[in-house]
Amino acid sequence: MSNPIFSSLLLTLLLAFSLPSTSSNPTNPTPTPWPHQFHSTLFMNRSGTLQMIDLWYDWPNGRNFNIIQNQLGTLTYDLEWNNGTSFVYTLDSTRECRVLALEVGILRPNWLDGGNYLGQRYMDGFLCNVWEKEEFIWYYEDVVSKRPVFWVFYSGYSAHVMTFEVGKVLEDARWQAPVYCFDETGKMNSLLIESVANADLHAELGYCWRGWGSSALGMGTGSGSESNDNGWAGAGPGVVLKTLAVIGGAILLKRLTKSTTRWDHTRLVARSLSGEKYTKEQASRDPDNFFNLRWLSCPAAEMVDGSKILYFEKAFWRTPHKPFRQRFIMVKPCPNEMKCDVELSTYAIRDAEEYKNFCDRPKDQRPQPEEVIGDIAEHLTTIYLKRCQRGQRCLYEGSTPSDGFPNTWNGATYCTSELSVVKNNEIHSWDRGYDDDGNQVWGVKGAPYEFKPAPASSFVDMFPPLSFPTASFVLRE
Ligand SMILES: *[C@@H]1O[C@H](CO)[C@@H](O)[C@H](O)[C@H]1NC(C)=O
Ligand SMILES: *[C@@H]1O[C@H](CO)[C@@H](O)[C@H](O)[C@H]1NC(C)=O
Repeated sequence: MSNPIFSSLLLTLLLAFSLPSTSSNPTNPTPTPWPHQFHSTLFMNRSGTLQMIDLWYDWPNGRNFNIIQNQLGTLTYDLEWNNGTSFVYTLDSTRECRVLALEVGILRPNWLDGGNYLGQRYMDGFLCNVWEKEEFIWYYEDVVSKRPVFWVFYSGYSAHVMTFEVGKVLEDARWQAPVYCFDETGKMNSLLIESVANADLHAELGYCWRGWGSSALGMGTGSGSESNDNGWAGAGPGVVLKTLAVIGGAILLKRLTKSTTRWDHTRLVARSLSGEKYTKEQASRDPDNFFNLRWLSCPAAEMVDGSKILYFEKAFWRTPHKPFRQRFIMVKPCPNEMKCDVELSTYAIRDAEEYKNFCDRPKDQRPQPEEVIGDIAEHLTTIYLKRCQRGQRCLYEGSTPSDGFPNTWNGATYCTSELSVVKNNEIHSWDRGYDDDGNQVWGVKGAPYEFKPAPASSFVDMFPPLSFPTASFVLRE
């Protein structure tokens, strides 16, 4: 809630979640569910940028309102409905409005359920019980009054709760977005946000997916005009900053729905693996140990369950048309019971010859998705990727299980693979074969290959432009 966009869902869920919550025991207390209606004023601090937020949470009516006063600056209204529509607007002469269609509604009153209890700490002079949820938010609740006192997001964006009035409701007339949020026909100027969780990764890692950042919003140029085609109603780039607050809340919601998040990780990993990458830098640094290799990968098909099939080939950069390794990579979320985020499985290709330079060819000259699925041959390896801890250079890293997978190349009996996805779409990959006695018989020694994207990659268009220009939002943060 850097902006409490809070929760929602449907009437049925509403009923389901209104059941009495489990009672706390003293050693492992549970957070008090939010009152179904309240008004709170929050003192927000985002790395020294201060805001006051008037928060009106109204669960029974499926709505939430953040009225955001920037210090000595603009007043922005962020009105959120549990059908996923949010209106972010000003009421001054700038008449800015942006309509967002989020995948999620407002937070449920019990959104903190399942948080990890961390014990008691003082905050702002109040003794508090503290919980952490999803390594995303740390929440402090007064031990005696059970009111929230403070919360802070992993990004450092914090909220001090100044007032908390249970049962207070804002009059209906105020829950009305201004007329300039709608076009002449009364339709909303809307923009679909596909995946908010990605925003969070981008924010955190400064990761920039070329092609759908600045151009989609006209942010990079600072011109507001082209943006209008994309759902902005007379809003300049400034609005983006103001709406950051909103996105934070939506991210939180996505975070809280873990299964969705794994699909977001899947998409991000698939994207990072795609493209044309070289080990040129490494090869010039250490020519005795590393070749300059070309990595080329692109989406080839999608399975009914949403798993993505990438075609992948590796070649020496001088002979890109003769790849020495060709694979399909299936990218999908890790099974629920496993402690990882994304599963990467490699498969041999039936009729590999047909696939040489697949990604370099125009789409109509490639095997089509149905053929791709038919050409998936034996399973070779699976790597389980986990999201990296904050502060690390990587985004995801993982390996095959320690006993690896069967392999017979050059006297090997098994092979292992390690892979990490690093900022800026870099991939570090280390494949090694071992014999019966555990001696390495193939693969580079000492360190993984570091594949860096080719500077003028032609692969920016491989994925359909996301409907949500996440990167530009977040990079400004
Ligand atoms: C805001 O947060 C920063 C740390 O991000 C801190 O240094 C600063 O003192 C805070 N300002 C206020 C007014 O609390
Ligand atoms: C969601 O609800 C609000 C308020 O009733 C409404 O203005 C908006 O059109 C709704 N959005 C959709 C997608 O139905």
